[in-house]
Amino acid sequence: MSTAYLNIGELTTWDEERPVQRDAGLVVSDGRVAWVGDSSATPAADDAVDLAGAAMIPGFVDSHTHLVFAGDRAAEFEARMAGQAYTAGGIRTTVTATRQASDEQLAGLVAARVAELRSQGTTTVEIKSGYGLDVEAEARSLRIAGQFTPETTFLGAHVVPTGWAADDYLALVTGPMLAACAPHARWVDVFCERGAFDADQARTVLRAGMDAGLEPRIHAGQLGFGPGVQLACELGAAAADHCTYLDAADVAALADTGVVAGLLPGVEFSTRHPYPDARRLLAAGVRVALATDCNPGTSYTSSMPFCIALAVRELGMTPLEALHAATQGGAWSLRRDDIGHLRPGARADLVVLNAPSHVHLSYRPGVPLVAGVYSTAR
Ligand code: NIG
Ligand code: FE
Repeated sequence: MSTAYLNIGELTTWDEERPVQRDAGLVVSDGRVAWVGDSSATPAADDAVDLAGAAMIPGFVDSHTHLVFAGDRAAEFEARMAGQAYTAGGIRTTVTATRQASDEQLAGLVAARVAELRSQGTTTVEIKSGYGLDVEAEARSLRIAGQFTPETTFLGAHVVPTGWAADDYLALVTGPMLAACAPHARWVDVFCERGAFDADQARTVLRAGMDAGLEPRIHAGQLGFGPGVQLACELGAAAADHCTYLDAADVAALADTGVVAGLLPGVEFSTRHPYPDARRLLAAGVRVALATDCNPGTSYTSSMPFCIALAVRELGMTPLEALHAATQGGAWSLRRDDIGHLRPGARADLVVLNAPSHVHLSYRPGVPLVAGVYSTAR
């Protein structure tokens, strides 16, 4: 089965020579991009779709979300907007609500969020656990996440839950909890931050996860300067996410090691922290990804276009850099070469915009511009 897309006004493929093409055509065959070129030269296919000048981009790769949760924390957000500071302790509020939800309720909430994110152009999503914080609740979160994506992340080390001493909880996370969760996870993550886990604790968690066959990623530098980025680089993590507070050595280490810096500007929007310095990272040659961090505490948005608009307006990225970070950058973060671009061989995760160019994603913030999502992703 093949489909030819004709008269694509602007096609972003991230091809090295021609990352963005005008008046393009693209052929999909058996779920993969089979051909890209000028519209007028497009080979015949079983089906043809005339895009009448609309822009086509690769589906967004949202490399950082916490979609498995119940309840919300609107009151906390309201208090923050009135001047109160964010603290990691709010996570425990969501843990309580999540534990109380039935399997069906929780799966239904995740399904609704995945549908929401899909309708805004996301075709691959990473989903973390981290609001269960006991063996069964963490394993259940990952089982549910696994119904929606292969990119599942064990985040038992999100925060020490109420009633536990840190050392005892760490032994649980790296012992029975990891054993129950590893079969359902690809990645292991830890919140390395004052108020959550320090460098030694975070290293213990990531090493244990790696020994169990999981690949490491980390929350680092969200609320203040800290050791998380250096730890990510030391362990060869795929990504260090947040990167809001970085010193010069952190930037240099990211550039040297190729660890992807995940920027999550929905968090700064919602916590009133300063936005991360994307220009400094790009200037140093760091690989940058953009993600929603969708969670009820610090960034309750499923919208990659919203994050792109923030990246352009507040992080100083060009619209094209922001789109790159939201697609190819996300794919780097998840160590995937089949998504995030539309070169021949890529999975045919195509997003058509109701607009002539990708610039409209940030030029018209809040306008639903995703006209169609063509994806084989589950
Ligand atoms: O990525 N930083 C840790 N985890 C989330 C916040 C979780 C919460 O407040 O519920 C984040 O921002
Ligand atoms: Fe997060």
